[in-house]
Amino acid sequence: MKKAVRTGVVGAGFSATFHYEAILKVYGTDVQVIGVHTIDAQGGQAYAQKRGIRFFPTLEGLLDEVDVVHVCTPPVSHEPISVAALERDKYVICEKPLTGYFGDGSPDFHWDRADMEAALRSALESVQRILEAERRSQGRLLYAENWVYAPSIQKEREILEKTGGQILWIHGEEAHSGSHSVDYAYAARCGGGVLIGKGCHPLTAALYLKRVEGRTRDGRPIRPRSVSARTHAITRLPAFRDADHIRSNYYDIEDFAAIHVEFEDGTIADLIASDIVLGGIHNWLEVCANNHRTICNINPNTAMLTYNPKEEYFRDIYTVEKIGTKQGWTCTSPDEDWFTGYPQEIEAFYRTIAYGDEPESDSSLAADAISTIYSAYLSARRQGTAVEVKLL
Ligand SMILES: NC(=O)c1ccc[n+]([C@@H]2O[C@H](COP(=O)([O-])OP(=O)(O)OC[C@H]3O[C@@H](n4cnc5c(N)ncnc54)[C@H](O)[C@@H]3O)[C@@H](O)[C@H]2O)c1
Repeated sequence: MKKAVRTGVVGAGFSATFHYEAILKVYGTDVQVIGVHTIDAQGGQAYAQKRGIRFFPTLEGLLDEVDVVHVCTPPVSHEPISVAALERDKYVICEKPLTGYFGDGSPDFHWDRADMEAALRSALESVQRILEAERRSQGRLLYAENWVYAPSIQKEREILEKTGGQILWIHGEEAHSGSHSVDYAYAARCGGGVLIGKGCHPLTAALYLKRVEGRTRDGRPIRPRSVSARTHAITRLPAFRDADHIRSNYYDIEDFAAIHVEFEDGTIADLIASDIVLGGIHNWLEVCANNHRTICNINPNTAMLTYNPKEEYFRDIYTVEKIGTKQGWTCTSPDEDWFTGYPQEIEAFYRTIAYGDEPESDSSLAADAISTIYSAYLSARRQGTAVEVKLL
């Protein structure tokens, strides 16, 4: 018999939409969505009405009625919402990034002038507060990093577990032509730019796979030791020539980041994140191991290719994320959410909540990702000098 779990969503935007769709696909648990809470009552009410659920004007009101909350709000609010829910012994499914540094509160805060040592310190203190709230709670924080659950990454997990392979080098990327979010222009709202916004995905997948390797062979995860990074704001360069295909109205964020991670065992990963790439979202990870090599093409991939001679034919057809044109050949995705790992992630989290299965993506992985990202920001400020990753 399926266990019943009462759940709630916090936020009513982009991620709250795909979380809800993934909840509808959960098959192992009887998930009852009770309601939604947002700070924007109009958006929250519209979201609730469309789905036949209740709108809660306060987080407390929602927490009174649910066992689980999906935190689908901007990163700056992840810590207070997650801690409030954990203090009430609820399960938290928290979107990426777990938390971060959101400026010094001054109205003229600008990332280019920010003190990156303070940023690293502050981000780690925030992580620490979340981890402590989880330790005191009967609930748990489940980290919604969908790359961990993407089917290609999970297949690589199986390969590592069954062959005992050693990963020597991972490289990967998340890139496209720029987010549509208005907030995504201000570091004070997002905790940084493309490195934290997009780079967290391939980075966390790389951190995860080295964990899998370590736990399989030695019973303990292999974690990051140091990171070197460069970040750039290409579209803010005076020399940038805007041809109107790439978003370019950023206030203070970087739109390119390259990071080099060294793990505890001396092996390495190189990850790139950028907002300056045309042709649709580009999400991939390559694993070079001592006994195999894997290329995970999350998006685009060639599961389906369509040729469309005229743009207008495909006017009402969604093909693939962030593609600039539907004319000509397209790597059309027949089920993008599936390749991206959203339904698998939510199914797995409800198995943890209802039946106690150990999650693949937890708060410890999230903490390592934040620690690596802010160490990378400090390294970038020092023009790429390696910075030790503090493990919490
Ligand atoms: N995994 C992915 O592929 C993916 C994709 C997009 C966004 N995200 C993550 O999802 C999170 C939300 O991003 P989004 O694109 O959905 O943003 P969004 O702007 O589309 O929606 C944010 C929602 O949160 C609400 N909100 C803001 N502050 C709040 C608060 N303090 N309390 C309650 N509600 C609040 C807003 O009213 C809005 O409904 C971010 O952390 C982002 O990084 C993940």
